[in-house]
Order: sequence, then structure tokens, then C-alpha cells
Amino acid sequence: MSSHDISEENLPEQRGAAQGAVRLADEKNPFADPGLPPHEHRRQDVDERAAKRSERVVALLFTVSMLATIAFIAAYVTIPVDKAIYVFPLGHISALNFALGLTLGTALFTIGAGAVHWARTLMSDVELVDERHPIEASPETRAKVHADFQQGAKDSQLGRRKLIRTTMFGALALVPLSGVVLLRDLGTLPGTKLRHTLWSKGKLLVNMNTNQPLRPSDIAVGSLTFAKPEGLEEKSEEFQDEIAKAALMIVRLQPEDIKDKRELEWSHEGIVAYSKICTHVGCPISLYEQQTHHVLCPCHQSTFDLSDGARVIFGPAGHPLPQLRIGVNDEGYLEALGDFEEPVGPAFWERG
Ligand code: FES
Repeated sequence: MSSHDISEENLPEQRGAAQGAVRLADEKNPFADPGLPPHEHRRQDVDERAAKRSERVVALLFTVSMLATIAFIAAYVTIPVDKAIYVFPLGHISALNFALGLTLGTALFTIGAGAVHWARTLMSDVELVDERHPIEASPETRAKVHADFQQGAKDSQLGRRKLIRTTMFGALALVPLSGVVLLRDLGTLPGTKLRHTLWSKGKLLVNMNTNQPLRPSDIAVGSLTFAKPEGLEEKSEEFQDEIAKAALMIVRLQPEDIKDKRELEWSHEGIVAYSKICTHVGCPISLYEQQTHHVLCPCHQSTFDLSDGARVIFGPAGHPLPQLRIGVNDEGYLEALGDFEEPVGPAFWERG
């Protein structure tokens, strides 16, 4: 080892000056400052071949991280969710979970290990002593921070070690992809599915409780009946998705009590059909007051006037309940005369 192989700032004589004077114990300060132990140079500081070896190790770790991230994505796409494997000592576990955990853990660990190895072997290892000082930053301090930052950037050798820089950026750029591919679990985009329901011209109104098509005579004045579209069976796979949009609330009013002209036109002999889904945040409405014709949502007390176009008279709901236009078919059953003319439920996707 020759002195010109060692970077200037690491030479012992200069470091002593940089550390400041060691204080001896006295009456005011009974504890002597022991100072720093003699500095030992690392192999990489004095041997360029050792530094190169360290550089390759760091690059290898970052490369392993990149491969692990790619393996994570491949495992996510190719391994079936229900496949189980035996792993000692864990026993039988999900192959997908095991592969995702292993690859993501490796990707993150090797980035950390690479950074630590880089800092320990190649970045400057100068020990610095800084006296305590007031918290406020003076212009001199800010200038010093700026200078230190620049020195740190220089010491890290980011500009010089291109292999490390490239692989580190590659590893850091790939790791977030693990999170991005998981977005696939949110499912496909809804498209216009939320704007339409199962109701269409000629669909019979079926009583939710008895499963029988409704006739006008089944709806008594003052009663509240819940209905679903014919053909929507409770056991079917799509039942929950569809009933959440198509559920109806049917009430018979005296035609002369109906104040809204369109409501009267869309009704049959005073029977009106409204969406049961609250326009606030989508709770099912179930409380009907026959004297006032008000329906109340139990979630946040939005109240709608069914005799006046289901107008909101109280609460946080943003707009009236959508009405379904109904009539009676040749056999005397209540039927829809089309779909709702506006999206049902909460107001955030309406009128878009
Ligand atoms: S969901 Fe009906 S008032 Fe909030």
C-alpha cells in the first residue's frame, strides 16, 4: 500500500485536524472526550481491484432484485390460485402466495443488501465530528449543507460507477411493478353496466316475497311491495349484482294525490314503481309512511315524497329516486315499459 493510493481525506494526519481537538476533563466538564479510535482504511480504499470486486457484488445484488421482480410477475400470472405445495417446515401452503412472498422478499432484500454493501465498501468512510450548534440554519450552514450534499454525491461515486447506477435505477424502477400488476385483482372496468338494469319493455314485475308476477289488484292502497324483474332468480350467479340495481318499490296512491304530472303518466291507476336504491350511498329503502307517502332511508334518514316525483324532502340524498314507467299487459300483469331513464343509486356517476 502506498500513500498515493489512499484518498487525501482519509490520511490520518488530516483526519485528526478534521475531527477537532480532543477535550480533556476539567472542573466544568468532568468527562474527558475520548476522541475517535485510529482510522483503519478499508481494502477498497487502497486496492482498486477490491473496489471493482465490490462494485460487481453490488451490481449482482441489484440484478438479482430485477430478476426477482420479473419472477414475481411471472408467478402472479402463471401459478393457479388453488395450487398447493409442501414446504418444510410450513407444511402444505398456497404455491402462489409462497412464490409471491419469496420473489418480492428477494427483490426488496437484494436492493437493501446492495445499497448497504455499496455504502460499506465504496462510499467514503470518513468519520466526521460536528459540534452541537443552534437549530436555526444560518446562511453559512445552508451553504455548508449544500457543499456537504455535493460532496456526498461525489463520495457515493454515482457518476463514476455506471454499472451500479444503471442496475440500481433498473431495480428501483422494476420494484413498483409488483404493486401495479396487483391492480388486476380489482377486476374489469364496469363500462356502462352501472347505467342499465334488467328492466326492459314487457318485463313483468315479480313480487320479491312470493316470486309471483304482480297484478294491479295485488297492490293495496297504503302498502309497500318490493319487486324484481321476471327471470331474475335468487339462486343465479348474477342475482346480487342485478338486484342491487333493479330492486323496485311499488306503492298504490290515489291518482288525485299524485302531484307530479310525469309520475302520474308513468303510473298505472295510481300504482307507482320507484327504485329501492337510495340515491345517497345506495342503501335499500324500506320504510313507508302511508299518510304522508314519504319513504325513509334507514341509513342516513334521507326522506323522499312518493306523491311528488320522489323528491328529496330531507337528508343528504342528492336527487329523487328514479321512477320506472309501468303498465299492464294483455293478461293483466304489471309490466315495465322500458328501463329507468337515469342511473339508479348514488349520485356520483349520474348525468356524466
Ligand atoms: S344511503 Fe340513504 S340516506 Fe344515506
